[in-house]
Amino acid sequence: MKIEPDFSLKHLNTFGIDAKAKYFARFESSDELIKLLASKDFKTIPKFILGGGSNILFCKDYDGLVLKNGILGIDIDAEDENHVYIKTGAGEEWHKLVLFAVNNGYAGIENMSLIPGSVGAGPIQNIGAYGVELKDVLVEVEAIEIETGHLRRFTNEDCKFGYRNSIFKGEEKDKYIITSTTIRLNKHSVLNTKYGAIEEEIKRMGVHQISIKAISDAVINIRQSKLPDPAKTGNAGSFFKNPEIKMEQFDKLKELFPNIIAFDTVDGNKKLAAGWLIEQCGWKGKRIGDAGVHPNQALVLVNYGNATGNEILTLSNDILKSVFEKFGVELETEVNII
Ligand code: FAD
Ligand code: EPU
Repeated sequence: MKIEPDFSLKHLNTFGIDAKAKYFARFESSDELIKLLASKDFKTIPKFILGGGSNILFCKDYDGLVLKNGILGIDIDAEDENHVYIKTGAGEEWHKLVLFAVNNGYAGIENMSLIPGSVGAGPIQNIGAYGVELKDVLVEVEAIEIETGHLRRFTNEDCKFGYRNSIFKGEEKDKYIITSTTIRLNKHSVLNTKYGAIEEEIKRMGVHQISIKAISDAVINIRQSKLPDPAKTGNAGSFFKNPEIKMEQFDKLKELFPNIIAFDTVDGNKKLAAGWLIEQCGWKGKRIGDAGVHPNQALVLVNYGNATGNEILTLSNDILKSVFEKFGVELETEVNII
């Protein structure tokens, strides 16, 4: 395997931040990865696992080994009358897996069309969009323990999924490299069109029969109209999570801000639309140097060209502060700050 020293990561993160890795390598199989982890040259240095780089902000050069996941393969592992089990290499593009499912008529992940990044990063934050999360379909994760090189299988329950959260962001943070995931999809369409503007968009498209493909196309259209394309403007999607607050706090806020946007959660709390909070603080469309807040979606911070990771981080801290001052609500970053 080729180890490249002093390697620029500018084209490997969707913010387009010009950070360097002390060492960089790409692995294409679990065996190759296990060998590398065991090699005495790299045993003790810090390691960072890179997928598509669409949920990270580099604030400095990485003083260690960046490992780019290149394990490919989308395979049907098993099937029965109603379900199909698809095992996918962690280095595959998530949207390629969605298209595989949509084109074969397997339902379950069409609402998560066009989420950038790799399959292997999906379980890290339990990716989600338009009313569906990875936890709704995930059966198993295979991962290699960095310390020992041993293979471990995590069931859905083991992963302790929550909203933009999992065991891989908690107690097992930075301990495993995910090498594959297995998901279970439906052969008979069980469609979810209730979220956001999906039904409206399907109507606008002139489609009369709701199908897996129609939902996927609608989600793609909505996303393309709202979110900046990282190929044109650097960004990592939502920079913050939507904060969850207790009902009592919500009632007080609702009195002060009658137009506040919020959704019920399963445990009787309220999830606030962070984009709305940020917009109300006057940040939407603001630009400071090359760091900015997207004009169509205040939850998305952007790099207009040559912003540094620290400039984007400073902007995000200023936003955090003003949202807290106005609403008494603490925002938490979704993007991984490195
Ligand atoms: P990276 O950014 O490369 O890595 C993210 C984290 O996961 C890092 O900590 C990394 O070390 C770790 N990691 C990556 N691969 C592995 C692995 N194989 N094993 C162990 N750790 C690993 N997310 C959503 O949930 N919903 C959305 O709707 C959504 N929309 C987005 C829209 C845009 C325009 C953009 C740019 C991003 C969006 N995101 C969304 C965020 C992002 O796409 C997801 O978080 C995605 O899963 C990141 O994948 P990645 O491969 O790029 O991960
Ligand atoms: N809103 C505003 N102003 C804004 C942005 C949003 O008022 O500037 C309002 C919208 O009008 C809407 C509400 O906030 O009423 C929610 O907005 P939207 O539907 O755009 O979704 P979001 O909550 O901002 C979340 C996810 C996205 C995911 C979409 C669709 C988080 C942190 N973000 O965004 O995920 O694609 O819902 O399901 O949960 C990501 O994680 O990177 C990401 C893009």
